[in-house]
Amino acid sequence: MELVLVIGRGGREHALAWKLAQSSRVQRVWVAPGNGGTALAGGKIANVPLPESDFAGLIAFARQNGVTLTVVGPEAPLAEGIVDAFQAAGLRCFGPSRAAAQIEASKAFAKDFMARHGIPTARYAIFTDFDAALAHLRRVDYPVVIKASGLAAGTGVIVPDTPDDAEAALRQIMVAREFGAAGDQVVIEERLEGQEASVLAFCDGRTVAVMPAAQDHKRVFDGDQGPNTGGMGAYAPAPLVTPQLLEEVRRTVLQPAVDGLAAEGAPYVGVLYAGLMIAPSRSPLTVRGSSLHVLEFNCRFGDPETQAILPLLESDLVEVVEACLDGRLAEADVRWRQGSAATVVAASEGYPGPYPKGREVAGVAEAEALPGVAVFHAGTRLTEDGRLVTDGGRVLAVTGVGDDLTTALARAYAAIERIRFQGMHYRRDIGAKAIVG
Ligand code: AMP
Ligand code: GLY
Repeated sequence: MELVLVIGRGGREHALAWKLAQSSRVQRVWVAPGNGGTALAGGKIANVPLPESDFAGLIAFARQNGVTLTVVGPEAPLAEGIVDAFQAAGLRCFGPSRAAAQIEASKAFAKDFMARHGIPTARYAIFTDFDAALAHLRRVDYPVVIKASGLAAGTGVIVPDTPDDAEAALRQIMVAREFGAAGDQVVIEERLEGQEASVLAFCDGRTVAVMPAAQDHKRVFDGDQGPNTGGMGAYAPAPLVTPQLLEEVRRTVLQPAVDGLAAEGAPYVGVLYAGLMIAPSRSPLTVRGSSLHVLEFNCRFGDPETQAILPLLESDLVEVVEACLDGRLAEADVRWRQGSAATVVAASEGYPGPYPKGREVAGVAEAEALPGVAVFHAGTRLTEDGRLVTDGGRVLAVTGVGDDLTTALARAYAAIERIRFQGMHYRRDIGAKAIVG
């Protein structure tokens, strides 16, 4: 029997714990530190009060409790080498090594890596010197996107509307150092047009098994208005990514990335996430040959994509993860169910700006009682006297599953309407583009 430890505290980690606990091979799932949802889940799932950054504490816990498998959710501990630390302690841990996690932790590394291996991505240049970056900005004749190279909790990308805004963004990162050391290197790249999609894959260092494509909704308000967030909702599979396109992503993006990392001595084991821009027209006449470009790689499951993807996984997640760790993913059975899933995020008042915490959350049990619904907690906490309160900007990810996207969305929205907390807001148009299209 497996004793599993999941590291992280968001909706993604609740979904991972939920799916892992469904395995008949799993006896226990601890979540460190977890949230109100993993505290309330009961059954095999329980929280451990250790933060993601406490590698020594997590390793000691794993040893003392006979943990047989650890699954890491967020990028920060991966980029800091948590998998290397667990392996050095003789523990099995699912995720990329520190070296392989560079594909997310350094956008400069990722861009040069893609160039070395012929993976389609926007034209770019990398700078450490402000004057050189400014000169480049004034020279290029195309609109740009400006990126702090390091990890900045999803906030380090600026898409300026005018050349003046682009210069301001550069100053913000390189002079005011708003993102600290994450802005030591800056990537200036060509701004691409199109629709975004996320394609995630299980990887064992050699083989990739793609998951159904998903679409995230990054802006806070309906119609993609307002500031960027960590993600306000997602659905899968995304019809934009046809089966042929999914195969093209595997062949031209994910497989070359895994092959390239192996060839460079950093074999990639874990989930590799490609954030893609798909040109408006998939016509063969699209500029420079490819209408598919990588915007970024992430070294982990997406949040909230995972809350819409894992409910579609028919296979046992533990078996898939074990196959990755053993380098036998090619023989593993990774099956997906027919149908769709959609997740809608309920956010705190003011999010993505400053928001209050500690507001009482009601209606979760009623929502969960509806057919085809799972409520994953993102930012909640169970108080000592047993009340469920808000504890983050994204509070809940409410997932509906059904035979088609319309049904999945209807279920997610029927469920979220049962839930209440003061100041709660959510987008009403998750998946709407896919339905109209
Ligand atoms: P990233 O973290 O690199 O995916 O960037 C965050 C967001 O910025 C993406 O989801 C896109 O919406 C936008 N973005 C990044 N790179 C580009 C680009 N080259 N062209 C247009 N939008 C981009
Ligand atoms: N949903 C975007 C991410 O996980 O990075």
